[in-house]
Amino acid sequence: MTEFRVFRFDPEKDKVHCFGTYEVPWEKGMTVLEGLWYIIDNIDGSLAFRSSCRAAVCGSCAMHISGERWNGKYRLACNTLIEKLLANGEGTITISPLSHLPIYKDLVVDMTNFFRHYESIKPYLIPSQTPPQKEFIQSPKERKKIEQSIDCILCGACYGSCPVAGTNPDYLGPHSILKTLRFYNDTRDTAKKERLSLIGNNKGLFRCHSIFNCQICCPKDLDPAGAISQMKMKLIFQKIKGLMGLG
Ligand code: F3S
Repeated sequence: MTEFRVFRFDPEKDKVHCFGTYEVPWEKGMTVLEGLWYIIDNIDGSLAFRSSCRAAVCGSCAMHISGERWNGKYRLACNTLIEKLLANGEGTITISPLSHLPIYKDLVVDMTNFFRHYESIKPYLIPSQTPPQKEFIQSPKERKKIEQSIDCILCGACYGSCPVAGTNPDYLGPHSILKTLRFYNDTRDTAKKERLSLIGNNKGLFRCHSIFNCQICCPKDLDPAGAISQMKMKLIFQKIKGLMGLG
C-alpha cells in the first residue's frame, strides 16, 4: 500500500482547495495514472483527471507529481512509475494539477490560454508554392532538422513549470516557441520572417528569463529553453541582415 495525496477542488462548491488521502495497493510496474484509476474505481468516483492514450503520446495526463525520492516535477502520470517515487517501497505520493491555468475540477485545468498561444504562432505549414497533388518530398537529412521538436505532445508540463507563464498570462510559453522552431526549420515552410515576427516581441522570445525549468521537466526530454535560444539567434541574424540591406 502507498498513500496518494491528491489535490481536490470543485470551484462550484469549495472556497479553497484541500488534499484527499487515499490508500492505494501497488505492485512493480504500476504507474501513477493506474493509481488514480484505482481511486476512481474503488474509493471515490468523484475524482476528476484527464487521460487518454496511456502511452505518453496524447499529453492529457500532465500533472505535478512528487514522492519520497522526488521533490516534485511536472510529469505524465501514465509513464511515471510508482516504484520510482517511493523509498524502499514506502512513502506518500502527492499529485497536483498543472499550474498557471484555471482549475475546472481537481486535476483538470482549463487549457484555453495554453492553446490560444499555440494557435497564435500559426502551427501549420505555410508553403510559398501550391502544395503538390500528393506530397512534399523531404530528404532524411531535412527531416532530421525537425526530428526533436516534432515530438512535442503539447502536454503543458513546460508551461506549468515556467514562473514567467505564471506571472504573465500573455507570455506565449515555451511550447509555442519550440513549435515555432519546428516549422521554421521545416524545408516545406517558407514563412520564416512571419514566424520570427510572431514571437520576436515582449510576449514571446523577450519575455523568457532563461529559467530553464521547461528543459528540466519536459517528459519527452525535449529542450524548449534551447529552442528559445536558437530562435533568439535567428531573430538577431535577421535584424543584422536587415540593417545591412541583405534581407
Ligand atoms: Fe520559462 Fe523556460 Fe524561459 S522555464 S523563463 S520558458 S527558459
